[in-house]
Amino acid sequence: MTVVAATPLDAFRASLEELHRDAAAALTAATDAAALEAARIEFAGAKSGRLKAAQKLLGGIAVADKPAAGKVFNEAKAAVVALLESAQARLAGATPAALAAVDVTLRGDPVRLGHEHPITRTIRRVQEIMGRLGFESVDGPEVEDQWHNFQALAIPSEHPARDPLDNFYLATANALTDVRANQPPEDAATADRGKPWLSRESAKWQKAMEGFGHGQSDPLLLRSQTSTVQIRVMENREPPLRIVSLGRVYRPDTADATHYPMFHQVEGLLVEPGITMAHLKSVLRLFASSFLGGDVKVRFRPSFFPFTEPSVEVDMEWGGRWVEMGGAGMVDPAVFEAVGYDPDTVSGFAFGLGVERIAARRYGVDDIRDFYRNDVRFLRQF
Ligand code: FA5
Repeated sequence: MTVVAATPLDAFRASLEELHRDAAAALTAATDAAALEAARIEFAGAKSGRLKAAQKLLGGIAVADKPAAGKVFNEAKAAVVALLESAQARLAGATPAALAAVDVTLRGDPVRLGHEHPITRTIRRVQEIMGRLGFESVDGPEVEDQWHNFQALAIPSEHPARDPLDNFYLATANALTDVRANQPPEDAATADRGKPWLSRESAKWQKAMEGFGHGQSDPLLLRSQTSTVQIRVMENREPPLRIVSLGRVYRPDTADATHYPMFHQVEGLLVEPGITMAHLKSVLRLFASSFLGGDVKVRFRPSFFPFTEPSVEVDMEWGGRWVEMGGAGMVDPAVFEAVGYDPDTVSGFAFGLGVERIAARRYGVDDIRDFYRNDVRFLRQF
């Protein structure tokens, strides 16, 4: 048997075949970027890769065999490069699904953020403006007893404002409350609570209480005005007072462009010695100018509210139109008496404005029902 000695070309070819096999095994087995990179350096590394080493062996090949050897080398190199590329593509495809699903070149969808409702924004703005004028913001309950909603505001039992058709009385059994429980505390308790100005012995107090509740249980109701908060604050605090109260009120009014059965009012009360209607008008004008911007004119028209004397309707002129915003006046002595203040030593003014009306004026809204239709196309405009 004749043994044919391997020529350098044969040895060169064999070593390249081995390199190709090893590269195929390593690159097929690579399951992550680190293994891929290690294989790339081992086989195709520019300085000490196995292809580079094989290239150097070309120098030892006989001149006659050089073209064949060069061809074998080039084929092996192309095969290794192809193996590398397919391994790279395979690993890129194996990117976690969540990452692969994100196409960072696509235009993003803007996230739509919500914002304050125009009525909430109006309430905060009113509180802020009145705060700068020294009025502290206070809250009161929406479910009220008849003392705070009517009687203490000099609206007696037979007054039409108490008509069941004009109010939301609560009809449930537990809505019945003994109104006496809602009256200001007895003298001893009053003293305990540090309210020496509450004089329940006085004839004035007795008169204010006349007819109230008739000792019966009277139904609670959803408050029909924020003037209730005046009473609650005066019952519990000594003058001087500067308060503003914003909140919901309820009346069985038919909804139209200027009415809604649930709406908001802003109530203002200032009690200090020497207060006059001129102070009232100045505060309302300062408020209107700050709220609406520019020089807003304020007009008083004679009116009647049981709890103010004199009483006025407040109109504001803005953008060439006069609009009724609410009622106001000097606090009636009967109200001071009901809360135990001495009307001969204190004086004050009160006002109540419709929040929806002033918001509509401010934002150019023609129909206050739009505030409550919850149509985002409308609400988005604010
Ligand atoms: C009152 O409620 C008095 N408490 C105001 C007041 C306070 C007078 C302090 C004097 C002193 P009137 O019922 O007019 O008043 O209501 C005041 C304002 O609430 C109205 O001018 C109007 O702007 C608004 N308003 C009344 N009813 C509705 C309604 N159904 N929907 C929307 N706004 C209303």
